[in-house]
Amino acid sequence: MLTELPLLPADPILGLSAAYHADTNPDKVDLGVGVYKTEQGNTPILACVKQAEAELYQNESSKVYTPPAGVPGANRAAAALAFGEQHAVIRDQRVATIQTPGGCGALRAAAELIAKAKPNATIWVSNPTWGNHVPLLSSAGITLKEYPYYDFNRQAIDFDAMLEALQQAGKDDLVLLHACCHNPSGADLTPNQWQQITELAAKRGFTPFIDMAYQGFGDGIVEDAYGVRLMADQLPELILATSFSKNLGLYRERTGSLSIVAPSATGAAASLSQILSITRGLYSMPPAHGSSLVDIIYHSESLHALWLQELTDMRERISGLREQLVGALNSTQQQMNFSFIAQQRGMFSFLGLSTAQVTRLKNEFSVYMTDNSRVNIAGVNGANLDYVSRAIGQVLS
Ligand code: LMR
Repeated sequence: MLTELPLLPADPILGLSAAYHADTNPDKVDLGVGVYKTEQGNTPILACVKQAEAELYQNESSKVYTPPAGVPGANRAAAALAFGEQHAVIRDQRVATIQTPGGCGALRAAAELIAKAKPNATIWVSNPTWGNHVPLLSSAGITLKEYPYYDFNRQAIDFDAMLEALQQAGKDDLVLLHACCHNPSGADLTPNQWQQITELAAKRGFTPFIDMAYQGFGDGIVEDAYGVRLMADQLPELILATSFSKNLGLYRERTGSLSIVAPSATGAAASLSQILSITRGLYSMPPAHGSSLVDIIYHSESLHALWLQELTDMRERISGLREQLVGALNSTQQQMNFSFIAQQRGMFSFLGLSTAQVTRLKNEFSVYMTDNSRVNIAGVNGANLDYVSRAIGQVLS
């Protein structure tokens, strides 16, 4: 049976890492997978995580199963970070939060819940969206449709086209929105645009399904949750996937959360029972290490403060790199104005290159990025900035 299975190509994002590692060019540059990197090109464990791990090592007394929803303190932390500790949905017990194996686990579990609640639902996703959204959501058997989002010619959101397309979203549909640091474009909705989408959701009756994988990497923890909090204020329902992969650097610990906001506490309790029955059938219960760290860090005054400082340092380094990259790219070539990169947020921007130009960058210069010319800005550093800019200049000339 298994011999009949065809060989599949490598994942378009994760496959880049393997290709990069196999490349023997000493000048190679990895602008592929979205992980934070220091000036030295490393992805170290945050100091707050190291300290929390030491505490966990001392105090953890059992490896017995966690409750099906995961570590309770981590769930309280995830909900408080997303909605704000005093938010009405928390106070009124209208939100049910579970811990999931990364943001991917949250997206997939939510897709299964949607398929169960509304088998004919359509999930509208932005064009473009993160490549893995499509398999994660469609594997549950749900129909996906695209709404226009990023205009490659203007290097900005085509908000009018987005609003117009979403006029078609009906009351059984969901609209997947990126809370901040849109992956792959780096172009985020403004507060006014969030308000307009919220009003449209109220009018059309669709449910927002928000992916917040980069909270803290845009403008700050509170600022990046603007849309989530606004929609939770004004709408009866929403679904939210969050991740601690980036903002706590817990990538391999697979630490994420899924929150369901329901119109009432009873509705939230029913959603929780449904989602736990789904996750029991998918993976039984989530891993505990990452979420135990979240619990410790969020609830320790000193570690929480240390985390916020480390997160600020990562965010500010990326915005500094954006400025430097614009300066270097605009001074090495005249074909394109790259100033838009400095206006965007988070780890990613599109360079706006063709697939052929991206292939040349990889083959001739060992500069790696996804085929759609998405670059991980955090992969740039003082040592490779000129090399990367000159290589891009060469393929543009
Ligand atoms: C990315 O977009 O590069 C990251 O979210 C990593 C991944 O899993 O694709």
